Formats: sequence, structure tokens, C-alpha cells
Amino acid sequence: MPEILDGNRVRDEIKAELKPRISTLTAKGRPPGLAVVLVGSNPASEIYVRNKVKTCEDLGIHSETLRPPESVTTGELLATIDALNARDDLDGILVQLPLPPQVDSKRVLLAVAPAKDVDGFHPCNVGNLVAALPGPRPCTPAGIMELLKRYRIPVAGKRAVVVGRSDIVGKPAALLLLHEHATVTICHSKTADLAGVCREGEILVAALGRPAMITADFIRPGAVVIDVGTTRVTDRALAARVFRNAADKLASFDKRGFALMGDVDPVDVIEKASAYTPVPGGVGPLTIAMLMANTVAAAERRAGLC
Ligand code: GUN
Repeated sequence: MPEILDGNRVRDEIKAELKPRISTLTAKGRPPGLAVVLVGSNPASEIYVRNKVKTCEDLGIHSETLRPPESVTTGELLATIDALNARDDLDGILVQLPLPPQVDSKRVLLAVAPAKDVDGFHPCNVGNLVAALPGPRPCTPAGIMELLKRYRIPVAGKRAVVVGRSDIVGKPAALLLLHEHATVTICHSKTADLAGVCREGEILVAALGRPAMITADFIRPGAVVIDVGTTRVTDRALAARVFRNAADKLASFDKRGFALMGDVDPVDVIEKASAYTPVPGGVGPLTIAMLMANTVAAAERRAGLC
């Protein structure tokens, strides 16, 4: 049986390590502060933001959620962010994505002060990542690297294949793996012979957002498989096929009306991988843990502690 890479366990370790740093900051003046901007009422974003706010509460990080309406303009959001940039009691600003279509997302992300950019999405911080300079790293890729490190999975010299080329996950994950001396390939839905390219990966990071697309023929025997996908699947026939009609999974589907599914086939990965992240409970919990870590680091820099 492959090793299960338990994201909940690593999240708890990271949170426990942050607590004394938050206590020190609080004793020296004030707790770290995070502002979350949630536009409209996208159900997935609502859940993410609720979990982010709850984790802040657990840790003693001050958080505020701003909720502009779905109809907000780019100009209004830029003004909101300017006001947050100017506040001395806030160390981090997170603009939950996606933004509505009328908003120029790139302009909005560019407006966040790089020192408060706890997502690592500002072009300055993207540059820091590319050049391997200090700065906040995007949370999900940073979480993947923490998971590999804490499970002592060697990266240097390995063939790593990243499936998906998003600015949030695929591109930064590839760069972080490269900085740890992996030989990295980025591939995507238009890659010729995608399965063949994926089979080269001793470390395979699946971040396409297509439920259960990575099946046995994509997985090199013995690979370490990191599944970033988390799709709410409401198609019962798909759930039945992917979960091989497992009674417990289908009972849960029938109760909730959906199943959470990763990008990797959950049965095939057990047969072929040497280690893998489950969905849920793998990469997901680490994204929020790394957001907290980025917020604490931003507060320490602001307080002159590092
Ligand atoms: N939407 C999906 N993932 C993320 C993330 O990591 N940060 C932000 N701000 N929005 C997201």
C-alpha cells in the first residue's frame, strides 16, 4: 500500500509552529492582521473564506472580511485596496479569486502592496519567486513543498511533472520544484501524449481541475502523486464510476448531493503510486496553513523582527 500524505497532520504541525510566533508579535504590540476581500457570493469562495477566517480565529490572527457586491467596478475595488494598503494594523490583504468578469483582476492584484501580498500574486513577488529571492510564495504550491519536505520525499534530481499551467498553482509549483533541483516538465490539456509525459514523473503534481482525469496510464509505477484538484461532482454516474460503486461513497453522495473529487483517479493511484495525497485531506488543508504562515511572516517583517 502506498504512503498516504496526510495534509491535516502537516497543517496542524504548521499551525502549532506559528502559535509562538503569533504570541511574540501580540506581546510586542498587536496580533498579525489579515484583510480578506470577497466579492459577491460565489459558493466555493464563500467556503474558502469562511475556513480562512476560522483558522485566523483559531490562531489569534486578527481578520476582517470585506464584501463588495457582485456589481463592484474595478475602480471601486482599487479604492478599497488602497485604503487597506494604508492601514498600519493590517499585514496581509487577500483578494479571493475569481473576481466577476467586469473587474480587471490583474489591475486589482497589482494594486495590493507587495509587502501585504500574502497570496504571492503581485508581479513583484512573482519576480521574487522566479529569481529565488525572499518573498511570499503562492499558498498551494508552498503547501505542496512543505508536504514533500515533512514527509522527507527527495526532490533533488527527480523528474517532476506538473499538469496544469495556472498562475496560482501550476507555474509556481514548477518553479518551487525547480529551485529544489528537480528536473521539471509543465504540461497541460493541449500537450501531445499527455499520459506519456505524465508517466515520466517520479513526482506528479496534478492541477488541472478535471475530476479523475489522471488514470493508471498517466502514473509511473512508484511515483509520488500530489493531487491539487478538488471538484464538487454532482453527476452521480461519474461518482459511481470513479468510486467503483463503493457503497459508503455513494451513500455519502446521496446524502450530500455531491462528492469531492481530485484530478487523480482515487483507485488507480493506490495501485500505482508509492505515496499520494488523498482528496479531501491532502493538499487542501495546506493552502490555508501557508496563508497563515505568509501572514505571520509579513507581520514579522513589518514589526522588524526578521
Ligand atoms: N481562489 C482559489 N484559490 C485561491 C487562492 O489561493 N487565493 C485566492 N486569493 N483566491 C483563490
